[in-house]
Amino acid sequence: MSVRHFLSLMDCTPQELNTLIRRGIELKELRKRGDLFEPLKNRILGMIFEKASTRTRLSFEAGMIQLGGQAIFLSPRDSQLGRGEPLADTAIVMSSMLDAVMIRTFSHSTLTTFAAHAQVPVINGLSDDLHPCQVLADMQTFYELRGDITSKTVAWVGDGNNMCNTYIEAAIQFGFQLNIACPDGYGPNAALMAKAGDRVHLMTDPKQAVAGAHLVSTDVWVSMGQEEEQKSRLALFAPYQVNAELLDLAHPDVLFMHCLPAHRGEEISDTLIDEDPRSVVWTQAENRLHVQKALLEFLVPH
Ligand code: CP
Ligand code: NVA
Repeated sequence: MSVRHFLSLMDCTPQELNTLIRRGIELKELRKRGDLFEPLKNRILGMIFEKASTRTRLSFEAGMIQLGGQAIFLSPRDSQLGRGEPLADTAIVMSSMLDAVMIRTFSHSTLTTFAAHAQVPVINGLSDDLHPCQVLADMQTFYELRGDITSKTVAWVGDGNNMCNTYIEAAIQFGFQLNIACPDGYGPNAALMAKAGDRVHLMTDPKQAVAGAHLVSTDVWVSMGQEEEQKSRLALFAPYQVNAELLDLAHPDVLFMHCLPAHRGEEISDTLIDEDPRSVVWTQAENRLHVQKALLEFLVPH
């Protein structure tokens, strides 16, 4: 049987994604009750981080430990990857010692090349193109607080980045309507847009995008790797700040999400995530742990 990878939300069927979310909620309840659940005893996850991380590293590492296994952190700085050892060779060696590998990388092709040579499941912990684990957590959060997201309206405001691309995949897989408001020239992946067809609408006006939306989501204006564009981006994206006034145009039951880390005073107003009851960013962050445990349970043979 061939190994299952999770490089994108498209690697699962809609039914599998819904099962993962429901399982994430069950595992959260188990943990809140203090019950031990250790199906991955003696299993080891390798984690390669080419970029910084707080939540992704913590949630995968803590998740593996809670499931009875362990995780090992590698970075190019202190592994042979940084000295030019081919990805394919690394994938063969890691597959021989570990039970799964999570990778946070720049180029998405790093993930596809690694997966092509790996004998164990490979998980995308963020690439320049996609961040599927985060959107799984977002979907769990919406399901917990509001129920089924099918046929609801979601608004993405700001940069057409890896998170925005993943929301397009989520619109296809979970069956919601997605309005994306980005400055001209900063839209999401065109091929994904074409694949989504009528499910997704691209516009430049954030007010139009959030009108009636049940979920509004945004992200930083300068993603990791774009630091040299900081000045021009901050000026260009200023009209795309999500604040209480913008959320007032959405559905009365709207939820606000941000994958974090956030920049108060830039993509969100100063007090939005600290004071506005519509913000659910802390639940969203916590759910990384629970839904990724469901993902590890699903992918790692035991
Ligand atoms: N949201 C997210 O992936 O956070 P980290 O960059 O801290 O992992
Ligand atoms: N778009 C951001 C997400 C960080 C979790 C980045 O890629 O830096």
